[in-house]
Amino acid sequence: MKTLIIFYSYTGKTRELAQTLATKESADIIELKDQKRPSTIGAYVVGSLSAMRQKQAKLQPFQADFSAYEKIIIAMPLWAGFPAPAFNNIIPALPSGKQIEIIITSGSGNSGDTQKRVQTMLSEKSCTLVGFRDVTHISRS
Ligand SMILES: Cc1cc2nc3c(=O)[nH]c(=O)nc-3n(C[C@H](O)[C@H](O)[C@H](O)COP(=O)(O)O)c2cc1C
Repeated sequence: MKTLIIFYSYTGKTRELAQTLATKESADIIELKDQKRPSTIGAYVVGSLSAMRQKQAKLQPFQADFSAYEKIIIAMPLWAGFPAPAFNNIIPALPSGKQIEIIITSGSGNSGDTQKRVQTMLSEKSCTLVGFRDVTHISRS
């Protein structure tokens, strides 16, 4: 099965997870990158608001032929209870009818509402949420 993992990471945790998973699943991997990395305050204030309002991030252009994959995994950090704004850049690019798996990384692991929100956002593209995981970051310090 051809698998694509597409992810965004601000502080590196989601990147680490996505890269490990891509190796394990022999998946193709695409990282969504900011045009300009937001400052910490920018991420918490502007970024969180954008996430809550489901607004897109200013990203470097990316290309993904989603239709070429049988399995698509989107990995995103949780920002203010929503997937980080880069998630909203992916949704319009998804072909309708796709089955999508979501991996959220978060500080709390408390994403019951997030799953419902993501499901709603995907259903607008007639996509189906076939897997949802919230991976709480465990500090190694
Ligand atoms: C702007 C911002 C907002 C966040 N909001 C939440 C939140 O609402 N709930 C939570 O559990 N963690 C929150 N976090 C923590 C991140 O979701 C968590 O550390 C995540 O694993 C970071 O992934 P990354 O290193 O790939 O960016 C937030 C982090 C940032 C930077």
